[in-house]
Amino acid sequence: MVYSQKGFSGLVLSVSFFMSFCMLTFAGNFYQDFDLTWGGNRPKIFGGGKLLSLSLDKISGSGFKSKREYLFGRIDMQLKLVAGNSAGTVTAYYLSSQGPTHDEIDFEFLGNVTGQPYILHTNVFSQGKGDREQQFYLWFDPTKNFHTYSIIWNPQHIVFLVDNTPIREFRNAESLGVPFPKSQPMRIYSSLWNADDWATRGGLVKTDWSKAPFTAYYRNFNVQTGNSKFTNGAWQNQQLDAYSRRRLRWVQKNFMIYNYCQDHKRFPQGGPVECRR
Ligand SMILES: *[C@@H]1O[C@H](CO)[C@@H](O)[C@H](O)[C@H]1NC(C)=O
Repeated sequence: MVYSQKGFSGLVLSVSFFMSFCMLTFAGNFYQDFDLTWGGNRPKIFGGGKLLSLSLDKISGSGFKSKREYLFGRIDMQLKLVAGNSAGTVTAYYLSSQGPTHDEIDFEFLGNVTGQPYILHTNVFSQGKGDREQQFYLWFDPTKNFHTYSIIWNPQHIVFLVDNTPIREFRNAESLGVPFPKSQPMRIYSSLWNADDWATRGGLVKTDWSKAPFTAYYRNFNVQTGNSKFTNGAWQNQQLDAYSRRRLRWVQKNFMIYNYCQDHKRFPQGGPVECRR
């Protein structure tokens, strides 16, 4: 078949026009969007691509990563964490670019003995430098049901959300000389591994291997991204609205258990510059 030059470019144009609307939202299918990266047969996709699980036993943990890279967007994933005695286990869920000056946006869930709270650990790396930890307890048991963990990332800020409640905002402070992740595309990664040398009460509580395998579940992956002029999602908002700001303060007041900005032992001079404004 031979298309006339004009007819063909018209087709390309309307296809790309249509595509830019599709860019608004990618409802996830784990087979399409992710690769299982390590752990032999421990990571699994099932339910026709709707569910993914990672598991950890004495021999190995497991992990997966996204096929695509993203530069800005809103990324949602629902997780149900290792139940029961999860002490010593860490479920890491994060965005990262590659190389020695990589950028990274981290959620890490530190397990605990039955009935004791998980710690949600967060960090932001920019051009290879992290050291910006904030840690939280959650206001629910993250092992009973799926909950949504989201990252909003645009040139103005990075916002971490739990069930749509912002728990942390990392603002672009380039004007103060603090590098901000904005030019290196990142992939989504997750892994479940043993970290009983530090995770639970600083390494005091060891993983109980008689409870293995430990399993975490994932579903409802969703991304809004794309720099098309047709996309104009809420994730592109430069600021949190008044309600979100109140929720953020509520979490930080009641559930934050560590903030690098307030760690005077570690930063006797008053913390990195982004903490001082
Ligand atoms: C585990 O429970 C203990 C006791 O409640 C608590 O101090 C600790 O912060 C919890 N989380 C972790 C990951 O250690």
